[in-house]
Amino acid sequence: MKLMVVGGGGREHAIIKKLKENKDVEKIYALPGNGGIAMDATCVDIGAKEIEKIVEFAVSEKIDYAVVAPDDPLVLGAVDALTEAGIPCFGPDKKAAIIEGSKVFSKNLMKKYHIPTAEYEVFSDMDAALTYLDTAPIPTVIKADGLALGKGVIIAMTREEAKAAVKSMMEDKVFGKSGDNIVIEEFLTGPEVSVLAFTDGHVVKPMVSSMDHKRAGDNDTGLNTGGMGTVAPNPYYTKDIADECMDKIFLPTIEAMKSEGRTFKGCLYFGLMLTEKGPKVIEYNCRFGDPETQVVLPLMESDLLTVMKAVTEEKLSETEVKFGSGSACCVIMASKGYPESYEKGFAMTIPSEISDNVYVAGAKLEDGKLLTNGGRVLGATATDESLAGAIEKAYGIVKKISFDNAYYRNDIGQRALKAIK
Ligand code: AMP
Ligand code: GLY
Repeated sequence: MKLMVVGGGGREHAIIKKLKENKDVEKIYALPGNGGIAMDATCVDIGAKEIEKIVEFAVSEKIDYAVVAPDDPLVLGAVDALTEAGIPCFGPDKKAAIIEGSKVFSKNLMKKYHIPTAEYEVFSDMDAALTYLDTAPIPTVIKADGLALGKGVIIAMTREEAKAAVKSMMEDKVFGKSGDNIVIEEFLTGPEVSVLAFTDGHVVKPMVSSMDHKRAGDNDTGLNTGGMGTVAPNPYYTKDIADECMDKIFLPTIEAMKSEGRTFKGCLYFGLMLTEKGPKVIEYNCRFGDPETQVVLPLMESDLLTVMKAVTEEKLSETEVKFGSGSACCVIMASKGYPESYEKGFAMTIPSEISDNVYVAGAKLEDGKLLTNGGRVLGATATDESLAGAIEKAYGIVKKISFDNAYYRNDIGQRALKAIK
């Protein structure tokens, strides 16, 4: 079989490595992939948002199965276009991807179908939003409606900060059209859990839970990033909570999307907060999380391609989705200065004995040399029977990789370890 994976980050590298475990897979193309992914797939210089070129390539190469991993192409309708061209494909269509593409849509969906989430108001008029903030409870959370490179959420600790956030989105348009409408919502507290789930629109099969570490610095200090590390499973996510989430959140969401004529097929990501009043949805993503995928897939015992095809063919109920009992830890190695400004182009070495454990996010090949080429450079992942073991092994891998200006957090998994004790 010839496969194609759209995207070019650590998440895509993890998906490709897992797909390769299926012995029917002869070739995998990555569009565009990156210099590190090139160790495991054939990279093609087509961007993830170049839908027409992606379809043209898939048709001319007679691709047997495609996976669209990032949010942008999904929201732009890449799966619709590929399906129309006769290429079987993993991922939601455009109508369903709106669950991530519009926060106003997802909040209204949750309200209509009684799915627990933070209280909220929607605004399309800036003055109305500013007036509302004169009396709104503080802290409060301001969210741009559309995609904003993961930066469209501002937690405001004061009224002034909240108003500044609204102005930056609605007046200065820092996120372009994504800020035409905004959501202002209740500030929730509690441990956060990420749950990725396979669904074919009929049944939902959650993967092992995970915990992201979004802040740049140790002990959750510094700026928000795309994620500096992950562990799985998430110790806060007990069996009882998992059952409650299935009843009150996962199944109702699948049913709600079906009722709206937007059947969701693919990987649905539930960003949850375990509040004192029970689990609530913080956000939905229409795709695998990054870097959650880098700890979830290494624990998956079932064959990924088989499960993905079952999703496409709406046969997930007959297909086993099994995870091992162990733990996994992924430590992101970034360029110093990320998520703000940073230098790139530094040579890096990944010794061959650890290459199975490395998912490359930002690197390019130049004259046969691997050079850093992004804020997040790679993720070092290890699995073990215990979380402590997985953490120790992951940092052992980090120590074997070197490049100038490398930066990583030293405490990935420590909060999870404390929760276990
Ligand atoms: P997002 O960009 O949607 O992933 O949100 C970024 C982070 O903002 C989340 O991981 C939460 O930590 C935080 N967040 C989002 N919504 C809320 C909320 N209503 N209350 C508290 N924290 C929130
Ligand atoms: N790790 C969060 C995300 O993928 O959006």
